[in-house]
Amino acid sequence: MSADALVFYSPVDSAAGWQEAMAAELPDLDFRVDPEVGNPEEVAYVLAWLPPKGFFSRFPNLKLVTNLGAGVDALVNRDDLAPVKFSRLSDPGMVAMMTSYVVFAVTRYARDMHIFERATRRGEWEYVHPRPLADIKVAVLGLGELGGPAARTLALMGFTVTGWSRSPKQIPGVASETGADGLERVLAGNEIIVSLLPLTPQSRHLIGAREFALMPKGVKFINASRGAVVDEAAMIAALRSGQIGEATLDVFETEPLPAGHPLWSFDNVLITPHMASITVPGLAARDVAESIRRVRQGLAPLHEVDPARGY
Ligand code: NDP
Ligand code: OXD
Repeated sequence: MSADALVFYSPVDSAAGWQEAMAAELPDLDFRVDPEVGNPEEVAYVLAWLPPKGFFSRFPNLKLVTNLGAGVDALVNRDDLAPVKFSRLSDPGMVAMMTSYVVFAVTRYARDMHIFERATRRGEWEYVHPRPLADIKVAVLGLGELGGPAARTLALMGFTVTGWSRSPKQIPGVASETGADGLERVLAGNEIIVSLLPLTPQSRHLIGAREFALMPKGVKFINASRGAVVDEAAMIAALRSGQIGEATLDVFETEPLPAGHPLWSFDNVLITPHMASITVPGLAARDVAESIRRVRQGLAPLHEVDPARGY
């Protein structure tokens, strides 16, 4: 019999939740949870988030790896992953959750909540006159499955939104910029800047000292994609100089963010523990199952990632 079992691995996601969701979609699937993988030769599919080094080399008959998340940076260029098809998750639950995080973080600044949080701690009534949302310019870097809906939602709320991506986009209410000169305009022209860029060789440390210097003084910076898209040392310098006025950070070059890291010391930095969005098994399992059905028939899976592009 040819290999047809699936192995699940995740340090954060619920194996039981995924097993149940996959059983509802594909009742015949042989679902195994690492480390109880049985005979590795029977394994054809892996559904995994941040598998340890060497994880894949055990499985000689692998046909499909599905990344248990949107960002595939931890999977591309691994030396234990022979050329095999791999997919990302695409999940409306994850889109909704990321949109809610971005709406929260942008609105907190737009409505001066960060100022009122500090005033509350001081026990002071500090009135700041609200500004119309249309006067507040917000940039979203990365207009993919997560950035696109987040930008669209901010525009629907009334913010003035510009997005930046590799290829031009037509998203209602969102101005589209591309290229290096487009990035410079976007950084210079927006007071709230959100990163939803994947981590690739091109985007690693894309936002560094020069880019922070281009932003308006006191910029509000939100990073919900990957820590290494930003040069952390440059960001800390920009926070110290006041060039960055406020930051909301969900992702870091090293996670968990180590105790004593300088970023913990700023009272104008809100740190969240890489939870901006998660996958919702009940909503994502349908596409994972469909990919397995397709691979069984010799077809390409859904949401296949091009390792050369890196996202
Ligand atoms: P997608 O791959 O769907 O979209 C990526 C977007 O970034 C696209 O618009 C793409 O442009 C653009 N892009 C990529 N490289 C460049 C570049 N060099 N220059 C300009 N634009 C570029 O990703 P998602 O929207 O699904 O997710 C974005 C990231 O969010 C993930 O990669 C992951 O790292 C992170 N994430 C974080 C989570 C969290 O909890 N903090 C949860 C889930 C994801 P184009 O459209 O032209 O291809
Ligand atoms: C993801 C993430 O990429 O959780 O899905 O960061």
